[in-house]
Amino acid sequence: MRLRNKPGAMNRIKQFPNLVIQNPEAEKGNWNNKFNNNNPIHIEIGTGRGDFIVGMAKLYPNINFIGIEKYTSVIIDAMEKVIEDNLENVIFLNKDAQKLNDYFEKNEVERVYLNFSDPWPKFRHHKRRLTHKAFIDRYKLILPDDGEIHFKTDNVSLFEFSLQSMSEENLLLQNISLDLHNSDIKDNVMTEYERKFSEKGQRIMRVEAKLR
Ligand SMILES: C[S@@+](CC[C@H](N)C(=O)[O-])C[C@H]1O[C@@H](n2cnc3c(N)ncnc32)[C@H](O)[C@@H]1O
Repeated sequence: MRLRNKPGAMNRIKQFPNLVIQNPEAEKGNWNNKFNNNNPIHIEIGTGRGDFIVGMAKLYPNINFIGIEKYTSVIIDAMEKVIEDNLENVIFLNKDAQKLNDYFEKNEVERVYLNFSDPWPKFRHHKRRLTHKAFIDRYKLILPDDGEIHFKTDNVSLFEFSLQSMSEENLLLQNISLDLHNSDIKDNVMTEYERKFSEKGQRIMRVEAKLR
């Protein structure tokens, strides 16, 4: 993700305290109150500029989406898209997902989306990968017993690592695609990175991993 410092981004974000939640620890166990309904909650970790979450929120108005992104300079663009489209089923956390378990209770999130997560190629950085065992353990603590993690990437080594890590964590791997855009899956919502990489001819890989 190319990051440019955006002066004023934090001040702008603070004008929308119900859209970008500043103190998510205080909402733990009560996220549905923020949406004023009891619809299922799906989260995306590493939301970036929000193309995926905004597309999904339009397609699935009966799902509540929470996008988690650590960089303010990026999440501000996602926030502006939600404001422009007047979507009521999206909320953002400008936070690092390492603290996920401070924000959500067991069973509070039905699905986790990971899209084009940073590959962290150096071995000593593998524990930062969002599909590392340490992160899967965090997801297990917020998902129900049949909850799902949906993962897309263009990065072969990250995909191999993730399949391995998910299967070692006893997740059931389903609907694996090694070339998503030439597969039977028709309801795919593209992310910013997905569009960029596929325009360059990169194949997109995808897996759904289910707890059991
Ligand atoms: C390569 S970008 C992909 C963005 C977007 N998902 C897409 O597909 O276009 C990865 C994003 O994940 C965010 N990210 C990485 N690790 C994170 C973490 N632990 N918590 C929150 N965001 C994270 C980065 O800041 C970056 O914006």
